[in-house]
This record gives sequence, C-alpha cells and structure tokens, in this order.
Amino acid sequence: MDLRRLRDTPRSFASWTLAHGVQRALIGRGARKGDLIARMVMDPSLREDPFGAYEELRSRGLISANDLISASVDHAVCNEVLRSDAFGTAGGQGELPKPLQWLHHKVIDPDALGPVDPPSMLAVDPPLHTRYRKQVARAFTARKVGRMGDRVGEVAAGLLDELAGSGEFDLVDRYASQLPVTVIADLLGVPEDDRGRLLALGNEAAITLDPGLSWRQFRQAEDALRELHTWFRAHVERITANPGDDLISHLTQLEGPDRLDQVELHQVGLLVLAAGFETTVNLISNAVELLDRHPDQLRWLQENPDGWGNAVDEVLRHQSPVQLTLRIALRETEVAGKTFAPGHGILLYVGGANRDPAVFEDPARFDVTRANADQHLAFSAGVHYCLGASLARLEAAVALRALYERFPDLHVSGPAERRPTRVLRGYERLPVRTVRFSA
Ligand code: HEM
Repeated sequence: MDLRRLRDTPRSFASWTLAHGVQRALIGRGARKGDLIARMVMDPSLREDPFGAYEELRSRGLISANDLISASVDHAVCNEVLRSDAFGTAGGQGELPKPLQWLHHKVIDPDALGPVDPPSMLAVDPPLHTRYRKQVARAFTARKVGRMGDRVGEVAAGLLDELAGSGEFDLVDRYASQLPVTVIADLLGVPEDDRGRLLALGNEAAITLDPGLSWRQFRQAEDALRELHTWFRAHVERITANPGDDLISHLTQLEGPDRLDQVELHQVGLLVLAAGFETTVNLISNAVELLDRHPDQLRWLQENPDGWGNAVDEVLRHQSPVQLTLRIALRETEVAGKTFAPGHGILLYVGGANRDPAVFEDPARFDVTRANADQHLAFSAGVHYCLGASLARLEAAVALRALYERFPDLHVSGPAERRPTRVLRGYERLPVRTVRFSA
C-alpha cells in the first residue's frame, strides 16, 4: 500500500472539496433543474457536441447568467473581457468565496499543483504574471520559432518513416501526440526515454483543467500530477548539474529579482511542458477528422500546399482545441451593458465565439479558404494570449502537409474516441488507414 497516498488523503479530500466538490454540488443541482449554463459545465452529452448549446446561449443575448456565474459565446464580449485589466484569473479559484479561496491555498499540496493552480502563469495576474511570462517568452520569439521549422519537418519525417508499411494505425498515438512531445522535449531538454511516460501522465492530468471533477477523477489526476512533479524535480537536478541552452536551464539560472523559487519553477516549467503537448495533439487530430469529412477540401490543399497555414486556422476556429476559459471581475466594471461586481466570474466559450455569425459567415461550415479564419480566439487574447501559438501553427501545418504527402489516401478507418475532457477538445483515438481498397 502507498503510505504517502494514504497519509495525504484527508488533505486531498479537503482540496477536492474546495476546488471541485462545492462547485460540483451547486452546478449539479442547477443542471438537474435544466439551467443551460450548469448543463454546459456538467452534462456529459454536451461534451461530445456542445455547439447546439452554444447557439441556445447566443439566442439569449450577449451575456447570460445564473445565480453563480455568467457565460458568453459572443466574439466581441469574449475578446473584450480577455483584453480587459478589470478582469483577471484570480488564482484559478475566483468563483469561490474569498475565505474558501484562502483555505484552499492552505490545504493544497505543493507537490500536486496542476496547470491552473497558482503560481502557474495561467492562474496569476500582472505584475506576477508579467515576471514569469517575460522569461518564458524568450524561448518563443518569432526568430526562434522560425528556426524550429526544419527540426519540426525532421521529426515529422522520422515518425512517418516508422509508419511506412503500417497500413492501419492510431493517428493520435503514433503521430499527432508524438510530434509535439518531441518538439517540446527538445525545447526543455527532456531525455528521449522520459517522453512516453510524460505523455501518459500529461493525459491523465489534463482533466484538472475541467470544473467540477468527481473525487475519483480528481484523485487519479492528482496521482499523475505528483509523479510529474517528482519527475520535474529530478529533471531540474539533472539540468542544474549539466546546463544546456534549453528553457529550463535558462529558468534555473535566473538571479536577483527574476529568480524563481522551487514552486514557481515547477509551475512555470510544467505548464510549458504540458501546454506544449496536450493541445497541439488535438489540433492535428481534429484536422484529420475534419478533412476526412471534407475530401474535396483535402484535395484542394494537396494541390495548393500554400493553403495549409490558413487551413490550420480554420480547424482552430471550427473545432477549437481549448473550448473555454474563465475570468473574474477584479473591480466593478461593465461589459455589454451588464455590471460585474468584484469577484463575479464569466465563462468565456471561445469555441462558441469562434462560431459567432457576426464575425464568421455561415460559421458552422468548414472552409479551409475562409478569408478571416485567423480572427478566431482559439489562442485566447490579452495578457494570457498563448505563448506557443506560432509554434502550434507551425507544427500543425508541417505535420499535416507531410502526412498527406506521404499518405495521399489516408482516411479514417474506424470509430474515433473523444477525450474525456471538456475544456480540451480532441480525440483519444483516431484509427486511420493509409491505402484505399477498391472492391
Ligand atoms: C493548438 C495548440 C494550442 C492551443 C489551442 C493553445 C491555447 C491556449 C490558450 C487558449 C491559452 C490561454 C488561456 C487563457 O487565456 O486562460 C494558452 C496559454 C498558453 N499556452 Fe497555449 N495553446 C496551444 C499550444 C501551445 C504550445 C505548443 C505551447 C508551448 C510550447 C503553449 C504554451 C502556452 C503557455 C505557456 C500559455 C500561458 C500564457 C500566459 O498565461 O501568459 N501553447 N494556450
């Protein structure tokens, strides 16, 4: 029996109660009464296809609200809130009353902090956020990402070589997940042997982005997070003894006011690692599934390979790999005629904003030649705008072009399995075949 796990159970339970249990009880009650926002957060059937619910919410106005929280699928509202300094992330726990937030920070185990627990960049506001972001941004300048193009191409070619002759395989397992994990591992100096285990742990921990987890889901994800932190501690020791020119070496060598303490280093490093491979995998697999349903557009791209960049933006718009995020009013403020009291939260469904007919003509239609596809909010906006956006775009365009050049007849060959996550939208399994059999 794992004694540490047993000893940590009361603390874990308190942490779950405050972070998810209270929410789960309140939202669950609303969902059972048919409240639309509560159903969008909890109803499992809306995970598979949330788009009807988005349209219902849109028909009710720019911003809707229940007793607990507001929500919007409006492009202008989402854009305004994300860019506004009157809203923040409020430590990832903004929807809890202040005393419960304080208690949560007291009970949470620093060895099991997740991607939206402070001091993760995703959960802190300026000026702390600015201090972390400045350091990480150095790894993602346009020049540095531009130089990664050849390496991404090399990784894609290597993976495709391994797949030659496979006939049928799971696209997620053998390609869409492997390419981003290899690229981010290079960037963070992660040894090749560790990558498979990190992928599995990242997958198990990804659900912590979702609100209202069950105790069982939380416990499983927490185990994965603890193992990730243990791995990261050893990785930092390895890198400190033998620094290279990777991002973690840079972060461990900071001095003076920029220096990160151990918890900060873990939260910043693990976020970049997980964000690097937990999102682009969805973009690549969502693209293959969409193109399979639109063979005429795939053919057009095969004849017009310069179109891959725009096609990637259209996939990001149509099937956004991150569907929603949360912001909390930091002071009294007004958006679209609605007054927000300090502490009031708003769920920003960027996946719905990306289907806003005021911005995108016939928004449910998938069109790789759409002229304004890049106006989507799939990478957020404002101070938290995705740091890896250009890398993700590059990876997806290179990965898709190389995949269909190598296997022009690639098609989905069996039932796809969706990931169990709500914030992240993508596939757990996508069986594909490389050749067509004619009768
Ligand atoms: C398709 C791929 C990706 C999508 C859809 C995506 C989406 C997002 C979104 C929506 C946010 C902001 C969340 C919010 O505003 O609350 C974000 C932040 C972030 N992303 Fe990405 N991301 C992707 C790929 C990547 C990659 C490849 C990396 C790194 C290599 C990365 C690193 C980050 C980091 C570090 C942040 C935090 C930025 C901050 O808080 O200042 N992302 N991403």
